[in-house]
Amino acid sequence: MSMPRNFLQLLPMAGHTRGNRDAMTCHFKCGDACSKAVCNTSSNSYFRDIADKALSRRAALGLGGVAAAAVVVGPQIANAPSAAADFGGFGKGGGKLPFNAIDPVERTVDTVTVPEGYDWAPIIRWGDPLFQDAPAFDAANQTAAAQERQFGYNNDYLNIMADGGNGRTGVLVCNHEYTNEYMMFDPAWQAQNEDEARRIAWAAHGFTVVEIERAKAGQKWEYVVGGDRNRRITATTPFRLDGPAAGSDLVKTVADPEGMTVLGTNNNCAGGTTPWGTIVSGEENFNQYFQGRGTPEEARYGIGTGAPSRGWEKLDPRFSAQNAGYEYEHNRFGYIVEIDPQDPTSTPVKHTAIGRFKHEGANINIAADGRVVVYSGDDERFDYVYKFISKGKYREGDKAHNMTLLSEGDLYVAKFSETSAAEIDGSGAVPSDGAFDGGGEWLPLVKNGTSRVAGMSVEEVLVYTRLAADQAGATKMDRPEDVEPNPATGKLYIALTNNSNRGKAGYEAADEMNPVNGNRDGHIVELTERGNDAAALTFEWNILLVAGDPAVSDSTYFSGFPPEKVSPISCPDNLAFDSKGNLWISTDGAPGKIGYCDAIHKVQLTGAERGRVEQFLAVPAGAEACGPVIHDLDDSVFVAVQHPGEGGTYAEPYSRFPDFKDSREDVGAGEFYGPRPSVVQVFSTRGNKGVGHAKRAAKAKSLPRKK
Ligand code: FEO
Ligand code: CA
Ligand code: CA
Repeated sequence: MSMPRNFLQLLPMAGHTRGNRDAMTCHFKCGDACSKAVCNTSSNSYFRDIADKALSRRAALGLGGVAAAAVVVGPQIANAPSAAADFGGFGKGGGKLPFNAIDPVERTVDTVTVPEGYDWAPIIRWGDPLFQDAPAFDAANQTAAAQERQFGYNNDYLNIMADGGNGRTGVLVCNHEYTNEYMMFDPAWQAQNEDEARRIAWAAHGFTVVEIERAKAGQKWEYVVGGDRNRRITATTPFRLDGPAAGSDLVKTVADPEGMTVLGTNNNCAGGTTPWGTIVSGEENFNQYFQGRGTPEEARYGIGTGAPSRGWEKLDPRFSAQNAGYEYEHNRFGYIVEIDPQDPTSTPVKHTAIGRFKHEGANINIAADGRVVVYSGDDERFDYVYKFISKGKYREGDKAHNMTLLSEGDLYVAKFSETSAAEIDGSGAVPSDGAFDGGGEWLPLVKNGTSRVAGMSVEEVLVYTRLAADQAGATKMDRPEDVEPNPATGKLYIALTNNSNRGKAGYEAADEMNPVNGNRDGHIVELTERGNDAAALTFEWNILLVAGDPAVSDSTYFSGFPPEKVSPISCPDNLAFDSKGNLWISTDGAPGKIGYCDAIHKVQLTGAERGRVEQFLAVPAGAEACGPVIHDLDDSVFVAVQHPGEGGTYAEPYSRFPDFKDSREDVGAGEFYGPRPSVVQVFSTRGNKGVGHAKRAAKAKSLPRKK
């Protein structure tokens, strides 16, 4: 894409982003989703369940009021994945991550801010070489061949997986959601090299798997150049299409007449780690890469008929459905993908059985009977929360079997009901029964291999899942992001990031599940499956918190915890848990809403401190806090710092994280004057003297050592 003069003013969201949510983020990350019409024009849920109906359901479930949310440790906990699978054991150093909350950080501050007693350093940065033959990063001389052998752009989902044994080795896995060409490239070079710039962008999407090592447990990790498991997956890597819709006419193209192999994955956002050690991740705003034909199905997914700004269709015809033979290429994106970080030769998979929508991510729990349950949110205003229940059962230690579990099963979408519907006025006022709460059911879309949606085949349900869920009558939510079970309790937490259109004329009014009109700062729903069994088909829910800055907002709610004692929080996005079951929340959009840098917060879920939000860190100016990974026993927190300095340009960077060069003349080999999306480790200074950012900055010219 060539850059017009004053391009920042030409971006669709320019002037509409409230404060500092940058129009550039809207453009590159989400394809200007908020400037366009809401995709969900279905009429379902306009007629809300009446309170009596919900109450009778609660009675039928044998559940009371608010007390029904009390912790019940269900049978799946005994079967829960060992921490070794998902969480690297929460670390092995024996710490416990004590900290005093930091003050919120003004949105212009360009550094990682951490609590007293902690320091931070990047583990890996955009462009860092992964292989012995990979060149050092050189912003002025980028090539696609180099980018394919280097760490990609805009890291989002992250896991740090320690190997068994002495805890000194492991792998870092993350995805690369999207590219920002305005910040990556010298515009004069890009104007002369449009196709190579597009190839670089392809190579900067996808995943990185890279080995890491450390001196001993509890200390800082370093990445290993040339590690045996190092791998890049990009926008051109072959994926095997899997599940009931694989091979159907809806996913065939002239280049893949069998409908079984897709090149690449785009816009991978959040994700999860399976009990068998693979990574699942969501293809989110995939629509923005494609030019459509104007079909109703395309419209429901936000695929327009205009030429996409990245212009990928100019380099590869598959990116436009207007090219004969490629009418359905876009039907091959919008899935949960699974990759095996332990096997660099494995073919990554796209799972059609979990449905096609703008998957934020996927997180897994194991049901009482051993079936595997995958939860996933569809991040769009007024879209839905889904779950998949596998047909087969989890077998401890049988990875080959477990890697078949996401290929076949039942797909459901959530329908919520309310207890205080008549009292909800969009102000965020807590109902007289003391809680935003209710019941709900999982509505079947596919069950026992058959479609449960009239007029739609199984293949149609799985490829046009949003349309199937509309017809089923799912509940329209305020942009469901991470949907994640707490390993300590089995309860499910749903991050609803915001929804400016809630309650606007022509849209759904506030309801008890989404109780704030114009929902600016988002909220968190806590959901308890019946019997605390992940395979249950009914549930209870309540709101844990309604986000915001209590100093300026009167619609905040923290489960009764005094608002004046919490850290301000806005736009919850990614969720994580520590070894004690505390919830950790990273945010995306706080600068434009409450004026502070995006952040990571800890929230206590039980006892007198339930609802207490404490800010742990802030990311640099323009960045979003992704990941996060909490290894409290190592006194470490890991964060994928995404889009630092967004809003700036290559010529005029808005952030210089993490190299922090004083001038362009000061930029050494492998460094960059502008911002570099990076994975950062925050660690206790107790066992990590001299490896923090200050020291690193002083010797920033030394690249990670070769293996
Ligand atoms: Fe890529 Fe829903 O955030
Ligand atoms: Ca209520
Ligand atoms: Ca996200």
